[in-house]
This record gives sequence, structure tokens and C-alpha cells, in this order.
Amino acid sequence: MGAVGFQEADWIWKDGEYVGWHDCNVHLLATAVQFGTSVFEGIRAYETSEGPAVFRLREHIDRLIDSATVYRMLPDYSADELVDTCLEVIRKNELRNCYIRPMIIRGYGTPGLNPILSPIDTYVAAWGWGTYLGAEALEVGVDVCVSSWQRMAPNTFPARAKAGGHYVNAQLMKMEAVQNGYVDAIALGPGGLVSEGSGMNLFLVDEGKVISPVLDGTSLVGITRGAVIQMARDLGYEVEERPVPREALYTVDEMFFTGTAAEVTPVRSVDRIEIGDGKAGPITLDIQKRFLATVKGETDDPHGYLTYV
Ligand SMILES: Cc1ncc(COP(=O)(O)O)c(C=O)c1O
Repeated sequence: MGAVGFQEADWIWKDGEYVGWHDCNVHLLATAVQFGTSVFEGIRAYETSEGPAVFRLREHIDRLIDSATVYRMLPDYSADELVDTCLEVIRKNELRNCYIRPMIIRGYGTPGLNPILSPIDTYVAAWGWGTYLGAEALEVGVDVCVSSWQRMAPNTFPARAKAGGHYVNAQLMKMEAVQNGYVDAIALGPGGLVSEGSGMNLFLVDEGKVISPVLDGTSLVGITRGAVIQMARDLGYEVEERPVPREALYTVDEMFFTGTAAEVTPVRSVDRIEIGDGKAGPITLDIQKRFLATVKGETDDPHGYLTYV
């Protein structure tokens, strides 16, 4: 199968050189391929009236370095150098609206388990990509389920690190959800409380208050989540991070996902129970509007979220 649902670009940066998209291969026995030892980021750039701008680039690169620190695979490049490389990859591929994927992987060195014996290879890819959860998702919302798979317990897999191997759990969630007729899934943590989606954070709206499950070591510390909390407060909403029991998912007034891929996507049902009146809620849409205006450079940027390419 070739490329599905995205536009391939021409060039991928690998350790200081550009490699053609289809020539950017790794060995079958690379440690990352066998054992999931890679850390990565997903970043978006948006077309603005002043050319493409990247949303929260520095924060993503800082999280990449944190993930690499946890997995003892720091690259040879500084955060500043990786920021510049991301911008260069967008220019080199002449991209505008795009998704940027820096990856640090344990390459081919030894077929055994000890990753320290394999080299640390750094890549930056980017490509054109539309809405992640379907063309209409941002407007009308998505139908999701609670996954039968739960998120990892703290101190099993380090959930705050964005590592390739962690996404086998996310893929189990996603496959089950899609095969059962849902767009995506919400996972509970090992304590039975709500954690996050397969590749996005979750927000609820109840009695006018914006709520996000507390970051309890079972979820990723979403960079969009942080910005959305700030934007909701800037819009005058009260925001609370707190433990969320599963049953709250069925009774709140509104719900939405946040993430680089998901942006701000309304959720209209969970396990076939409608949220509110089964449409994107007004507070969700208010926050989504602020988010989209910010990333597209259509409003002022008081928190310095955009880096112009
Ligand atoms: C598991 C998981 N949770 C949450 C998110 C949202 O994080 P961000 O807003 O930083 O993209 C992502 C996407 O990166 C993710 O993969």
C-alpha cells in the first residue's frame, strides 16, 4: 500500500543531510524497529498571511529532548539546532500547511536488546496533512467509545515521554474503536479514572466550567492541551484539572479532544450516549474558534505561540 490520506514530500533530513522521501530507510534489525526505541514529535505548521507559521515549535522540541533524556538517547544536536532544522525542512520541501515529525531512533548496531550498543540517528520529516479525524470532525464532532484497553500504569512505560513503543497501546485502542464503528477511543488509566484518547488529550465542559483529567502519569502532557487551558482562561472560562470518573463522560454538557493532529475536535457521543444535545457544544466551538484563529495568525499571539517559517 502506498501513501494513504496525506501528501508525500520530497526530502527528509537525516543527521545533517537530505535524503529522498523513498530512500529514507532503516535496517530491519535496527533497535527501533525491533523494540520500539524511538522518540518523536508531531508538530503542525499553518498557512498564514505572512507565510507558514509553526505552532509551539520550541515547546515540542523541548519535549523531544525530555523524551530522549528519559530513554538515554540524546541526539548530537541542540534544541536550537533542531528548531532551525524543522524550519529548514519546511522550506526545502516548499510546504505550507503541514505536519512535522522529528524522530530520534536507535538505529542498526546490534540485534540484541541493549539499546546503548546501537547508534542514535536523528531525522526530521514533514508532509501535507489535513484534518486527522475526518473532514467534518471539527464542525460536527466525533463518536467515540471507552476503550477496553487501558493506559499504562506510572513507572511501567514513562507516559510523559513520547516514545514510538508506547504507541502499540494507542494502536490497540484505535483498531478496536474503528472496527466497532467509532472514530476513536478514550482510555481509562490503571486506577479506573479517565486518562486520554489514543493520540490526544480530553476536555469536558460541565456547568460552564472547562475540565481536563489531571496529569497523573498515565497520559502525555499535551502541548495543545496547555495552550487550550490558557486560551479558555483568556476567554474568561474557569478551568479545572481534576480526576474524572468514567461515568462523568456520559453526563457532562460538552466534550472535546485536543492534540496537534486532532486540533480541537468536538466529541458528540461516548459509547453511543449523546453528549449534551449530540452536537459540538458552544463553549467547545468558542475555544476552537480562538485556537484556529491563533494558529492561522488571524488574531494576536500574546503568548508567542507561532514561529514564522
Ligand atoms: C497519547 C497522546 N496524547 C496526547 C497528545 C496530544 O499532545 P499534543 O497536543 O502535544 O500534540 C498526543 C499527540 O501528540 C498523543 O500522542
